[in-house]
Amino acid sequence: MTGSGSAAPSRALDNQDISHFVDTSDEWIASRTGIRQRRLAQPDQSLKTIAAAAARNALEMAGITPLDVDLIILATSTPDDLFGTASQIQAELGATKAVAFDLTAACSGFVFGMVTAAQFIHTGAYQTVLLIGADLLSRWVDWSDRRTCVLFGDGAGAIVMQANPDINHLLGFELRSDGTQNSCLTLAYQPQPRELTAETIVGQGNFQPIQMNGQEVYRFAVKKVPEVIEKALFRAELSVAQVDWLVLHQANQRILDAVADRLGIPAVKVISNMARYGNTSAASIPIALDEVVREGRIKPGDVIAASGFGAGLTWGATIFRWGK
Ligand code: ACO
Repeated sequence: MTGSGSAAPSRALDNQDISHFVDTSDEWIASRTGIRQRRLAQPDQSLKTIAAAAARNALEMAGITPLDVDLIILATSTPDDLFGTASQIQAELGATKAVAFDLTAACSGFVFGMVTAAQFIHTGAYQTVLLIGADLLSRWVDWSDRRTCVLFGDGAGAIVMQANPDINHLLGFELRSDGTQNSCLTLAYQPQPRELTAETIVGQGNFQPIQMNGQEVYRFAVKKVPEVIEKALFRAELSVAQVDWLVLHQANQRILDAVADRLGIPAVKVISNMARYGNTSAASIPIALDEVVREGRIKPGDVIAASGFGAGLTWGATIFRWGK
Protein backbone atom coordinates (compact mmCIF):
# COMPACT_ATOMS: atom_id res chain seq x y z
CA MET A 1 0.00 0.00 0.00
CA THR A 2 2.36 2.70 -1.27
CA GLY A 3 0.18 5.74 -1.90
CA SER A 4 -3.23 7.26 -1.34
CA GLY A 5 -5.15 10.17 -2.81
CA SER A 6 -8.58 11.68 -2.79
CA ALA A 7 -10.66 14.37 -4.48
CA ALA A 8 -14.12 15.82 -4.10
CA PRO A 9 -16.11 18.53 -5.87
CA SER A 10 -15.66 21.97 -4.28
CA ARG A 11 -19.40 22.71 -4.14
CA ALA A 12 -20.65 21.95 -0.61
CA LEU A 13 -24.29 21.60 0.46
CA ASP A 14 -24.92 21.79 4.20
CA ASN A 15 -27.90 20.49 6.16
CA GLN A 16 -29.38 23.96 6.41
CA ASP A 17 -29.34 24.24 2.60
CA ILE A 18 -31.26 20.94 2.31
CA SER A 19 -33.92 22.18 4.73
CA HIS A 20 -34.84 24.78 2.10
CA PHE A 21 -36.15 22.15 -0.33
CA VAL A 22 -37.27 19.20 1.87
CA ASP A 23 -38.85 19.08 5.32
CA THR A 24 -35.78 18.41 7.47
CA SER A 25 -33.38 20.18 9.82
CA ASP A 26 -29.70 20.31 10.67
CA GLU A 27 -30.59 18.98 14.12
CA TRP A 28 -32.39 15.87 12.71
CA ILE A 29 -29.69 15.02 10.16
CA ALA A 30 -26.71 15.64 12.46
CA SER A 31 -28.16 13.76 15.44
CA ARG A 32 -29.37 10.72 13.41
CA THR A 33 -26.40 10.42 11.02
CA GLY A 34 -23.47 12.65 12.05
CA ILE A 35 -23.55 14.26 8.60
CA ARG A 36 -23.32 18.07 8.38
CA GLN A 37 -22.42 18.66 4.73
CA ARG A 38 -21.71 16.83 1.52
CA ARG A 39 -19.86 17.74 -1.70
CA LEU A 40 -21.82 17.68 -4.94
CA ALA A 41 -20.52 17.43 -8.50
CA GLN A 42 -21.73 20.15 -10.83
CA PRO A 43 -23.21 19.18 -14.22
CA ASP A 44 -19.90 19.88 -16.00
CA GLN A 45 -17.97 17.56 -13.65
CA SER A 46 -17.65 13.87 -14.39
CA LEU A 47 -16.77 10.76 -12.44
CA LYS A 48 -13.77 10.46 -14.73
CA THR A 49 -12.25 13.83 -13.82
CA ILE A 50 -12.81 13.50 -10.07
CA ALA A 51 -11.50 9.93 -10.02
CA ALA A 52 -8.47 10.89 -12.11
CA ALA A 53 -7.65 13.71 -9.66
CA ALA A 54 -7.71 11.26 -6.74
CA ALA A 55 -5.61 8.79 -8.75
CA ARG A 56 -2.95 11.41 -9.59
CA ASN A 57 -2.57 12.23 -5.88
CA ALA A 58 -2.13 8.54 -5.03
CA LEU A 59 0.45 8.00 -7.80
CA GLU A 60 2.37 11.07 -6.62
CA MET A 61 2.50 9.80 -3.03
CA ALA A 62 3.68 6.38 -4.29
CA GLY A 63 6.39 8.14 -6.29
CA ILE A 64 5.43 6.50 -9.58
CA THR A 65 4.05 7.66 -12.93
CA PRO A 66 0.93 6.50 -14.80
CA LEU A 67 3.23 4.49 -17.08
CA ASP A 68 4.21 2.29 -14.12
CA VAL A 69 0.60 1.11 -13.59
CA ASP A 70 -0.28 -2.41 -14.79
CA LEU A 71 -3.93 -2.52 -13.72
CA ILE A 72 -6.60 0.06 -12.89
CA ILE A 73 -9.68 -1.10 -10.99
CA LEU A 74 -12.48 1.44 -10.66
CA ALA A 75 -15.01 0.56 -7.95
CA THR A 76 -18.16 2.51 -8.76
CA SER A 77 -21.92 2.20 -9.07
CA THR A 78 -22.27 5.52 -10.87
CA PRO A 79 -20.15 5.31 -14.03
CA ASP A 80 -20.20 8.05 -16.66
CA ASP A 81 -20.85 5.25 -19.14
CA LEU A 82 -22.54 1.93 -18.38
CA PHE A 83 -19.99 0.22 -20.63
CA GLY A 84 -17.37 1.29 -18.12
CA THR A 85 -15.46 4.37 -17.04
CA ALA A 86 -12.14 2.84 -15.94
CA SER A 87 -10.69 2.92 -19.45
CA GLN A 88 -11.63 6.61 -19.77
CA ILE A 89 -9.65 7.24 -16.57
CA GLN A 90 -6.79 5.23 -18.01
CA ALA A 91 -6.79 7.55 -21.05
CA GLU A 92 -7.13 10.68 -18.89
CA LEU A 93 -4.08 9.62 -16.84
CA GLY A 94 -2.08 8.42 -19.83
CA ALA A 95 -1.62 5.01 -18.21
CA THR A 96 -1.07 3.43 -21.61
CA LYS A 97 0.48 0.19 -20.34
CA ALA A 98 -2.36 -0.61 -17.94
CA VAL A 99 -5.53 -2.60 -18.40
CA ALA A 100 -8.58 -1.03 -16.76
CA PHE A 101 -12.01 -2.25 -15.73
CA ASP A 102 -14.97 -1.28 -13.55
CA LEU A 103 -16.09 -3.27 -10.51
CA THR A 104 -19.55 -2.81 -9.00
CA ALA A 105 -20.29 -3.68 -5.39
CA ALA A 106 -21.95 -0.45 -4.17
CA CYS A 107 -20.51 0.78 -0.86
CA SER A 108 -18.46 -2.43 -0.53
CA GLY A 109 -16.75 -1.74 -3.86
CA PHE A 110 -13.46 -0.47 -2.46
CA VAL A 111 -13.01 -3.48 -0.15
CA PHE A 112 -13.99 -5.92 -2.93
CA GLY A 113 -11.57 -4.06 -5.22
CA MET A 114 -8.71 -4.31 -2.74
CA VAL A 115 -9.12 -8.08 -2.51
CA THR A 116 -9.40 -8.36 -6.32
CA ALA A 117 -6.24 -6.28 -6.81
CA ALA A 118 -4.34 -8.40 -4.28
CA GLN A 119 -5.22 -11.60 -6.16
CA PHE A 120 -3.62 -10.26 -9.35
CA ILE A 121 -0.54 -9.24 -7.36
CA HIS A 122 -0.28 -12.57 -5.53
CA THR A 123 -0.43 -14.59 -8.76
CA GLY A 124 2.39 -12.45 -10.15
CA ALA A 125 0.23 -11.27 -13.06
CA TYR A 126 0.59 -7.59 -12.16
CA GLN A 127 3.08 -5.63 -10.05
CA THR A 128 1.38 -2.26 -9.66
CA VAL A 129 -2.35 -1.72 -9.27
CA LEU A 130 -4.22 1.58 -9.02
CA LEU A 131 -7.44 0.99 -7.10
CA ILE A 132 -10.01 3.78 -7.24
CA GLY A 133 -13.30 4.06 -5.36
CA ALA A 134 -15.48 6.81 -6.84
CA ASP A 135 -19.16 7.63 -6.86
CA LEU A 136 -21.43 10.53 -7.78
CA LEU A 137 -24.61 9.44 -6.02
CA SER A 138 -26.05 12.96 -6.33
CA ARG A 139 -26.96 11.94 -9.89
CA TRP A 140 -29.21 9.16 -8.58
CA VAL A 141 -30.72 10.50 -5.37
CA ASP A 142 -34.38 11.50 -5.28
CA TRP A 143 -33.84 15.07 -4.07
CA SER A 144 -37.47 15.25 -2.93
CA ASP A 145 -37.11 12.22 -0.59
CA ARG A 146 -35.85 13.42 2.80
CA ARG A 147 -35.26 9.83 3.97
CA THR A 148 -32.42 9.35 1.48
CA CYS A 149 -31.31 12.68 -0.01
CA VAL A 150 -29.69 13.89 3.22
CA LEU A 151 -27.32 10.92 3.33
CA PHE A 152 -25.26 10.94 0.15
CA GLY A 153 -22.40 12.95 -1.35
CA ASP A 154 -19.87 12.75 -4.20
CA GLY A 155 -16.15 12.03 -4.22
CA ALA A 156 -13.26 9.74 -5.11
CA GLY A 157 -10.36 8.07 -3.33
CA ALA A 158 -7.53 5.92 -4.59
CA ILE A 159 -4.65 3.79 -3.41
CA VAL A 160 -1.63 2.28 -5.11
CA MET A 161 -0.90 -1.39 -4.33
CA GLN A 162 2.50 -2.74 -5.35
CA ALA A 163 4.03 -6.20 -5.24
CA ASN A 164 6.51 -6.78 -2.42
CA PRO A 165 8.30 -10.13 -2.80
CA ASP A 166 9.09 -10.29 0.94
CA ILE A 167 5.84 -9.34 2.69
CA ASN A 168 2.13 -9.71 2.06
CA HIS A 169 0.44 -6.63 3.45
CA LEU A 170 -3.12 -7.85 2.88
CA LEU A 171 -3.23 -9.92 6.06
CA GLY A 172 -6.77 -11.25 5.90
CA PHE A 173 -10.16 -10.68 4.31
CA GLU A 174 -13.76 -11.83 4.18
CA LEU A 175 -16.28 -10.91 1.47
CA ARG A 176 -20.01 -11.62 1.58
CA SER A 177 -23.20 -10.96 -0.38
CA ASP A 178 -26.88 -11.77 0.06
CA GLY A 179 -29.10 -11.10 -2.93
CA THR A 180 -32.21 -12.20 -1.08
CA GLN A 181 -32.09 -8.83 0.67
CA ASN A 182 -31.49 -6.84 -2.52
CA SER A 183 -34.72 -4.86 -2.22
CA CYS A 184 -33.47 -3.10 0.96
CA LEU A 185 -31.36 -0.75 -1.15
CA THR A 186 -31.71 -0.33 -4.89
CA LEU A 187 -30.87 1.88 -7.84
CA ALA A 188 -32.83 -0.28 -10.23
CA TYR A 189 -33.53 -0.29 -13.93
CA GLN A 190 -37.20 -0.10 -14.80
CA PRO A 191 -38.02 -1.30 -18.30
CA GLN A 192 -40.95 0.01 -20.33
CA PRO A 193 -42.27 -2.26 -23.10
CA ARG A 194 -41.42 -1.04 -26.59
CA GLU A 195 -42.86 -2.96 -29.50
CA LEU A 196 -40.46 -3.48 -32.42
CA THR A 197 -42.62 -5.96 -34.32
CA ALA A 198 -45.88 -7.70 -33.34
CA GLU A 199 -43.82 -10.56 -31.85
CA THR A 200 -40.83 -8.64 -30.49
CA ILE A 201 -41.10 -6.34 -27.53
CA VAL A 202 -38.00 -5.00 -25.80
CA GLY A 203 -37.78 -3.32 -22.42
CA GLN A 204 -36.39 0.19 -22.75
CA GLY A 205 -36.51 2.39 -19.71
CA ASN A 206 -34.46 4.21 -17.12
CA PHE A 207 -32.78 3.69 -13.81
CA GLN A 208 -34.94 4.77 -10.90
CA PRO A 209 -33.58 6.88 -8.02
CA ILE A 210 -32.17 5.25 -4.88
CA GLN A 211 -34.77 3.43 -2.77
CA MET A 212 -33.78 2.39 0.74
CA ASN A 213 -35.26 0.72 3.78
CA GLY A 214 -33.07 2.65 6.24
CA GLN A 215 -33.93 0.67 9.34
CA GLU A 216 -33.25 -2.69 7.64
CA VAL A 217 -29.91 -1.47 6.29
CA TYR A 218 -29.00 -0.12 9.73
CA ARG A 219 -29.78 -3.45 11.43
CA PHE A 220 -27.91 -5.39 8.76
CA ALA A 221 -24.79 -3.22 9.08
CA VAL A 222 -24.60 -3.29 12.86
CA LYS A 223 -24.97 -7.09 12.93
CA LYS A 224 -22.91 -8.17 9.92
CA VAL A 225 -19.98 -5.74 9.90
CA PRO A 226 -18.51 -6.83 13.29
CA GLU A 227 -18.87 -10.49 12.21
CA VAL A 228 -16.98 -9.98 8.99
CA ILE A 229 -14.20 -7.98 10.66
CA GLU A 230 -13.78 -10.71 13.27
CA LYS A 231 -13.56 -13.32 10.52
CA ALA A 232 -10.94 -11.31 8.61
CA LEU A 233 -8.94 -10.80 11.83
CA PHE A 234 -9.10 -14.55 12.46
CA ARG A 235 -7.68 -15.18 8.99
CA ALA A 236 -4.96 -12.59 9.68
CA GLU A 237 -4.20 -14.31 13.00
CA LEU A 238 -4.58 -11.00 14.77
CA SER A 239 -6.67 -9.90 17.74
CA VAL A 240 -8.93 -6.86 17.90
CA ALA A 241 -6.38 -5.23 20.23
CA GLN A 242 -3.77 -5.36 17.45
CA VAL A 243 -5.88 -3.16 15.14
CA ASP A 244 -4.44 0.38 15.00
CA TRP A 245 -7.25 1.93 12.92
CA LEU A 246 -10.83 1.04 12.05
CA VAL A 247 -11.88 2.54 8.69
CA LEU A 248 -15.51 1.75 8.02
CA HIS A 249 -17.69 2.80 5.12
CA GLN A 250 -18.87 6.26 6.19
CA ALA A 251 -22.64 5.69 6.14
CA ASN A 252 -23.79 6.85 9.55
CA GLN A 253 -21.91 7.84 12.74
CA ARG A 254 -24.29 5.69 14.78
CA ILE A 255 -23.30 2.63 12.71
CA LEU A 256 -19.59 3.42 13.27
CA ASP A 257 -20.13 3.82 17.02
CA ALA A 258 -22.18 0.62 17.31
CA VAL A 259 -19.68 -1.48 15.32
CA ALA A 260 -16.69 -0.15 17.29
CA ASP A 261 -18.58 -0.76 20.51
CA ARG A 262 -19.43 -4.37 19.59
CA LEU A 263 -15.79 -5.06 18.67
CA GLY A 264 -14.43 -3.25 21.73
CA ILE A 265 -12.39 -0.80 19.63
CA PRO A 266 -11.90 2.59 21.34
CA ALA A 267 -13.25 5.71 19.59
CA VAL A 268 -9.72 7.17 19.12
CA LYS A 269 -8.97 4.38 16.65
CA VAL A 270 -12.14 4.94 14.59
CA ILE A 271 -11.71 7.18 11.56
CA SER A 272 -14.71 9.36 10.76
CA ASN A 273 -15.09 12.16 8.24
CA MET A 274 -18.74 11.77 7.24
CA ALA A 275 -19.64 15.08 8.85
CA ARG A 276 -17.92 16.76 5.88
CA TYR A 277 -18.65 14.32 3.03
CA GLY A 278 -21.78 12.31 3.84
CA ASN A 279 -21.94 8.81 2.37
CA THR A 280 -19.79 8.76 -0.79
CA SER A 281 -20.35 5.02 -1.38
CA ALA A 282 -17.26 3.31 -2.88
CA ALA A 283 -15.22 6.47 -2.27
CA SER A 284 -15.80 6.78 1.46
CA ILE A 285 -13.12 4.37 2.76
CA PRO A 286 -10.27 5.63 0.55
CA ILE A 287 -11.15 9.30 1.18
CA ALA A 288 -11.14 8.71 4.96
CA LEU A 289 -7.93 6.69 4.72
CA ASP A 290 -6.17 9.31 2.60
CA GLU A 291 -7.03 12.15 4.97
CA VAL A 292 -5.55 10.35 7.95
CA VAL A 293 -2.47 9.19 6.02
CA ARG A 294 -1.81 12.80 4.94
CA GLU A 295 -2.30 14.05 8.50
CA GLY A 296 0.49 11.65 9.47
CA ARG A 297 -1.74 9.78 11.92
CA ILE A 298 -1.56 6.48 10.00
CA LYS A 299 2.09 5.44 9.94
CA PRO A 300 3.87 2.80 7.86
CA GLY A 301 3.35 -0.58 9.48
CA ASP A 302 0.05 0.32 11.13
CA VAL A 303 -2.63 -2.39 10.99
CA ILE A 304 -5.90 -1.19 9.46
CA ALA A 305 -9.26 -2.95 9.57
CA ALA A 306 -11.48 -1.68 6.73
CA SER A 307 -15.07 -2.71 6.15
CA GLY A 308 -17.55 -1.78 3.45
CA PHE A 309 -21.26 -2.61 3.43
CA GLY A 310 -24.27 -1.67 1.39
CA ALA A 311 -26.40 -2.43 -1.62
CA GLY A 312 -26.48 -5.94 -3.02
CA LEU A 313 -26.57 -6.54 -0.18
CA THR A 314 -22.79 -6.81 -0.04
CA TRP A 315 -20.33 -6.53 2.81
CA GLY A 316 -16.73 -7.33 3.48
CA ALA A 317 -13.60 -6.57 5.48
CA THR A 318 -9.88 -6.42 4.84
CA ILE A 319 -7.07 -6.33 7.37
CA PHE A 320 -3.97 -4.71 5.92
CA ARG A 321 -0.71 -3.07 6.87
CA TRP A 322 -0.07 0.43 5.54
CA GLY A 323 3.19 1.21 3.72
CA LYS A 324 5.79 -0.52 1.56
N1 ACO B 1 -35.53 14.82 8.29
C1 ACO B 1 -36.55 14.78 9.19
N2 ACO B 1 -37.25 13.68 9.42
C2 ACO B 1 -36.93 12.56 8.75
C3 ACO B 1 -35.87 12.53 7.80
C4 ACO B 1 -35.17 13.74 7.58
N3 ACO B 1 -34.13 13.82 6.71
N4 ACO B 1 -35.80 11.29 7.30
C5 ACO B 1 -36.73 10.55 7.87
N5 ACO B 1 -37.43 11.32 8.75
C6 ACO B 1 -38.55 10.92 9.60
C7 ACO B 1 -39.32 9.78 9.03
O1 ACO B 1 -40.28 10.25 8.09
C8 ACO B 1 -39.96 9.22 10.27
O2 ACO B 1 -41.07 10.01 10.62
P1 ACO B 1 -42.47 9.30 10.99
O3 ACO B 1 -42.15 8.49 12.21
O4 ACO B 1 -43.35 10.47 11.21
O5 ACO B 1 -42.82 8.46 9.80
C9 ACO B 1 -38.90 9.45 11.34
O6 ACO B 1 -38.03 10.46 10.83
C10 ACO B 1 -38.09 8.23 11.68
O7 ACO B 1 -37.67 7.62 10.45
P2 ACO B 1 -36.71 6.38 10.45
O8 ACO B 1 -36.50 5.92 9.05
O9 ACO B 1 -37.20 5.38 11.46
O10 ACO B 1 -35.35 7.04 11.00
P3 ACO B 1 -34.07 6.31 11.54
O11 ACO B 1 -33.83 6.68 12.94
O12 ACO B 1 -34.06 4.86 11.17
O13 ACO B 1 -32.93 7.03 10.70
C11 ACO B 1 -31.55 6.64 8.78
C12 ACO B 1 -32.93 6.95 9.29
C13 ACO B 1 -30.62 7.76 9.21
C14 ACO B 1 -31.59 6.57 7.27
C15 ACO B 1 -31.05 5.31 9.39
O14 ACO B 1 -32.04 4.32 9.26
C16 ACO B 1 -29.79 4.82 8.72
O15 ACO B 1 -28.76 5.44 8.78
N6 ACO B 1 -29.85 3.64 8.08
C17 ACO B 1 -28.71 3.09 7.38
C18 ACO B 1 -28.69 3.70 6.01
C19 ACO B 1 -27.42 3.47 5.30
O16 ACO B 1 -26.35 3.41 5.88
N7 ACO B 1 -27.52 3.38 3.97
C20 ACO B 1 -26.40 3.36 3.12
C21 ACO B 1 -25.82 2.01 2.92
S1 ACO B 1 -24.53 2.19 1.84
C22 ACO B 1 -24.91 1.98 0.17
O17 ACO B 1 -24.67 0.92 -0.38
C23 ACO B 1 -25.55 3.10 -0.59
